[in-house]
Amino acid sequence: MATSAPAGAASGRLDDLSKLVALCKRRGFIFPSAEIYGGFANTYDYGPLGTLLKNNVRDAWVRDNVQRRDDVELIDAALITAPKVWVASGHVAQFNDPLVQCLGECKNRYRADQIDATQCPNCGGPLSEPRMFNTMFKTQVGPVEDAENVAYLPPETAQGMFVNFANVATTMRRKLPFGIAQIRKSFRNEITPGNFVFRTLEFEQMEIEYFVEPGTDEQWFEEWVSARERWYLGLGIRPENVRRYEHPQEALAHYSKRTIDIEYHFPFGDGWGELEGIANRSKGPDGSSWDLWQHEQSSGERLSLYDEARKQHVRPAVVEPAAGLTRAALTFLIDAYEEQVLDADKQDVRTVLHLHPALAPYKVCVLPLTRNKPDLVRTARELYESLRRRWMVTFDSGSGIGKLYRRQDEIGTPYCVTVDFQSLDDQQVTIRDRDSMDQVRVPIAEVRDWLDERLDY
Ligand code: GAP
Repeated sequence: MATSAPAGAASGRLDDLSKLVALCKRRGFIFPSAEIYGGFANTYDYGPLGTLLKNNVRDAWVRDNVQRRDDVELIDAALITAPKVWVASGHVAQFNDPLVQCLGECKNRYRADQIDATQCPNCGGPLSEPRMFNTMFKTQVGPVEDAENVAYLPPETAQGMFVNFANVATTMRRKLPFGIAQIRKSFRNEITPGNFVFRTLEFEQMEIEYFVEPGTDEQWFEEWVSARERWYLGLGIRPENVRRYEHPQEALAHYSKRTIDIEYHFPFGDGWGELEGIANRSKGPDGSSWDLWQHEQSSGERLSLYDEARKQHVRPAVVEPAAGLTRAALTFLIDAYEEQVLDADKQDVRTVLHLHPALAPYKVCVLPLTRNKPDLVRTARELYESLRRRWMVTFDSGSGIGKLYRRQDEIGTPYCVTVDFQSLDDQQVTIRDRDSMDQVRVPIAEVRDWLDERLDY
C-alpha cells in the first residue's frame, strides 16, 4: 500500500537539508554523535524515532528480498575477520581515494576527483599533489601493535557473503540461482563525508550477492535493477525523483562488468546522487564471480557448485544489489517531507512526513480528548494496550487535539485514534488519516480490523 502526497503538495518540499536536520533533532530521529562533547564530525546517533525508522527500512528490505522470495538466504557475518579477506577482495590494494590537501591557511582535505579546482575552494591556498589514501579503517587484534595483528573494519558487507558462499550453499542445499543477503554496518574513512547522514564514516548497508549460471548474469542484472527500483517506488518514493545512471566502462570498479546506480534527486549538491548500486561482479575467468575466484586463489578452497547434468564444478557469476540502509532512511525522510499550507490567510502551515505506513515509526497514536475524565482515559488506555500488541503505537494527551494531530503529522504517524466524550456513550472513536486529514467514526470493537486492512504491507 503506497501513500502519496495530497494534491497540491509539491510546493512545500525541501530546498536544502536544514529543516529536516532540525526536525530530526527536535523529534528524536537523529542526533549529532556525542553532542555533549561538541559532536564528532560526520557521525550521528539514531534516536528513538530514527531507530524505529531504520528498523522499519530493514524489515521492509528483508520482507521483500528474503521473506517473499524462494531464492535468498539471510546471514550475519562477523565484522572483524581475517585480514586475508580484504587482501583477496582487492580492498587493501585498491580501496583508495586520491587525496589533496590545502597547503595554505585552512589545511582542508579534499578528494581530488571531487573538486574541480587548482586552488583550495575554502581559502584559495595552493593544493598539494594528489596522493592515494586507503579508506579502510584499521584496528589491531590482541595487545601487540604490529603488522601481524592488523585487522580491518569492513567497508562493505559483500565479502561476508562471498566467504560464506560454500557454507550457505551446502547447509541450505542450494542450486543456482540463489542469493545471500546481509544487513550490517560498514565503515569508510571518507575524506569528504557530509550532507547529514548521506555520507558518514559508519553506516549500514543492505546487500545481496545473487549467484547465477555464468551467461545468465546479464539478464539477472536487468531483473535486479528493475526489482530494486520497484522497491523504492513501492515504498512511496516519487518516481520523478528517481533515475538510473550507468557507469561508463572506464570508471567501473575492478570487479565489475557493469554497474547501474539508482539515483535520487537530493536537495543538495547538484541534486542527483547514488541511492543504491547494482553491479555485475562477474569479471572472473569465464565470466564467473571475480570475488569467488579471488577467494579460491587465496584460500585454496573450492568455491563452486557441482552441476550433476554437466558432471562438473561451476563457479557462478554474481549480481550484487548494494543498498545503503542509512542513506535509504534519509531518502525516505526527504521524499516524505512537506510543509503544507492549509490556510494561507491565517498562515496555517503543517509539517508532515508522508512516510509509507511500513516505514512510519509509529503506525497509530491513541489520543484521549481530555486527561480529566478517568473513564475516557481508561477507555483510551485499554485501546492503546490492545493495539500495541500488534503494532508500534504511541499514546499522547494533554494539549488541544489540533496540536496533538500536528505533532503526529510531523513524525509521520499514519493514523490518530481519538477517544472523545461521545465514545463513552456510543463506543465509537474517531480515526484521522494523516495525509487526507479525513476523519471517520469507527466502533471501538472494529478498530483493530480497520487498521489491519490499511496497515497490510
Ligand atoms: N558492495 C558494493 C558497495 O559497497 P557502494 O556503491 O560503495 O557499493 C553501496 O555502496 C551503497 O552503500 C551506496 O549506494 C550507498 O547507499 C551506501 N553507502 C556507501 N558509502 C556510504 C557512506 N559513506 N555513508 C552512507 N552510505 C554509504
